[in-house]
Amino acid sequence: MCGIVGYAGRRPGKPIILDGLRRLEYRGYDSAGIVLIEDGVLQTTRAVGNLDALYAAAGANGSQATVGLGHTRWATHGRPNHENAHPHDDCSGRVSIVLNGIVENYKELRAELGARGHVFKSETDAEVVAHLIEEHIGDGLTAAVRATLASLDGHYAFCALSADEPGIVVGTRDECPLVVGVGEGEMFFASAIPAFLTHTSTIIALEDGDVVTLRAEGAQICDVAGQPLVREQTVVPWDDDAAEKGGYETFMLKEIHEQPAALRDTLAGRLREDGVVDLSEVGLDDEMLRRLRRIFIVACGTSYHAGLIVSYAIEQLARVPVQIDVASEFRYREPVFGADTLVIGITQSGETADTLAAMRLARAAGSPVLAVTNLMGSQATREADYVLYTRAGLEIGVAATKTHTAQVAALLLLALRLAWARGVMPEAELKRLGHELRAVPEQVEQLLARPSAIEEIARRYHDERFFLYLGRGMGFAVCLEGALKLKEISYIPTEAYAAGEMKHGPIALLDKESPVVVVADDSPVFPKLVSNIEEVRARGADVIAVATDGNEAIGELSRDVLWVPKCDHHLAPILTVIPLQLLAYHIAGMKGLNVDQPRNLAKTVTVE
Ligand code: AGP
Repeated sequence: MCGIVGYAGRRPGKPIILDGLRRLEYRGYDSAGIVLIEDGVLQTTRAVGNLDALYAAAGANGSQATVGLGHTRWATHGRPNHENAHPHDDCSGRVSIVLNGIVENYKELRAELGARGHVFKSETDAEVVAHLIEEHIGDGLTAAVRATLASLDGHYAFCALSADEPGIVVGTRDECPLVVGVGEGEMFFASAIPAFLTHTSTIIALEDGDVVTLRAEGAQICDVAGQPLVREQTVVPWDDDAAEKGGYETFMLKEIHEQPAALRDTLAGRLREDGVVDLSEVGLDDEMLRRLRRIFIVACGTSYHAGLIVSYAIEQLARVPVQIDVASEFRYREPVFGADTLVIGITQSGETADTLAAMRLARAAGSPVLAVTNLMGSQATREADYVLYTRAGLEIGVAATKTHTAQVAALLLLALRLAWARGVMPEAELKRLGHELRAVPEQVEQLLARPSAIEEIARRYHDERFFLYLGRGMGFAVCLEGALKLKEISYIPTEAYAAGEMKHGPIALLDKESPVVVVADDSPVFPKLVSNIEEVRARGADVIAVATDGNEAIGELSRDVLWVPKCDHHLAPILTVIPLQLLAYHIAGMKGLNVDQPRNLAKTVTVE
């Protein structure tokens, strides 16, 4: 959730670190800080609020320091105030650290350190790390970091500086991301690659327990016992434009419009000419798919909604029972695993703590685990036996959009291959679906290019205090996603309900002031939805329907219709969610809110 940037080079580090933090701001934005080694002294600046506050406090330039650290915070332990903002230093002010994650035993450590005379300036768990390093600093910073690891429980990545060794930054990770960037005469640490992508795309992915000493000349890596390690360098195929808005007002709008490309890339090479899905790159062979008796899907938030959408498709097409749960519930409900149960963990970031824990649990119990993730080399890929990548490119807006539709597309490929392997559907029918899926990116492109009433609808309703979303089947799962989008960026309370359940309670919420969004694409449950829409209209509420081109019935039932192109109903969720993303976007915009950085949220949730 927090973002770390470290720099050791020959250029002034301050603008490089601040720019890196700007690119990581999506990870957390309640406070930020920077520390530089200036003439053998640590100079620290912290600020509360987003990075603008740190820029104002620190100024972008004016320092010749070539080594330093930066941090953008999403508070876990301790309120977002000046004292709790990172970097944190030791008693002497000669050691400074930035940390992402949680030190679970910090209370015990604080008490022990306090008894030995250490004085704390913040309420954070992270500060103990600076004080522990201080106790070992006589052996040098790298050795002190190694010694400190022995005392820590939890999941974290941290980097440290010592004023007595002004040419180095030392970093380490344990179940939280930290990657090294290899430049020419300069080296970087970052929680995520975009932080240094302007300077280099050559990276070193680290393993848990690696202790890395960065100098301008390169990185030395050892294990906790000090044994040297060799880690490969790789070049990531991302260009720096991904971290820019490219002419759009916001990252979210840019990412909504990147969906055709994200879908094309996700499908590329996985659909044969004849429409048959080929997932051989994932390593899931047909024999294994045939033997499966059950599938568990675990995920959080928007990724959970992608899983829910495709759980319908998997059962309907491949006839395998699917259970789906949010990861934070699943991991504690003592699920019954088996070797014939495939567990699918969906996480765009590959870092979500609950999803990772659920996957770990499944693997330990002997179930094969498939990760569906957008981030190469992320933690999820290490917790899984198989990896199915979405190829949506970097997503910076906190509200997930293109990664969601890419997840649905990738999982639909899996559903089709499962059905193929199990021989439960006519081959011609599966090929037809494969061809239709290939056409979806083009349909999304057309949809995004169409004139639409969305802005007008947003203008009419942006001051309403409640929105209800209704759908059935996959349309219900799309409603959950649409409702989440609206609540997370506009702060308007929303409820998404299975339309058939409405009369069992939520109908009491309806009045003339509560617009009802209905996902009513052409699916076998459409006739059932019609009666639910009539029930809504009878209570005087306005209906905004998302419907398939050419559906004449819906026009008479709804005040507004947001049309989507025709496709097989199993694929429709990729299209029907797009008007809902845009509706949320425009409503939030009309309320004057920052859609890329909604309050209290972070893009990646690396804590439980
Ligand atoms: C999406 O708009 C949310 N911000 C959030 O629900 C997100 O989908 C969730 O935190 C899961 O993230 P992941 O896909 O990186 O695991």
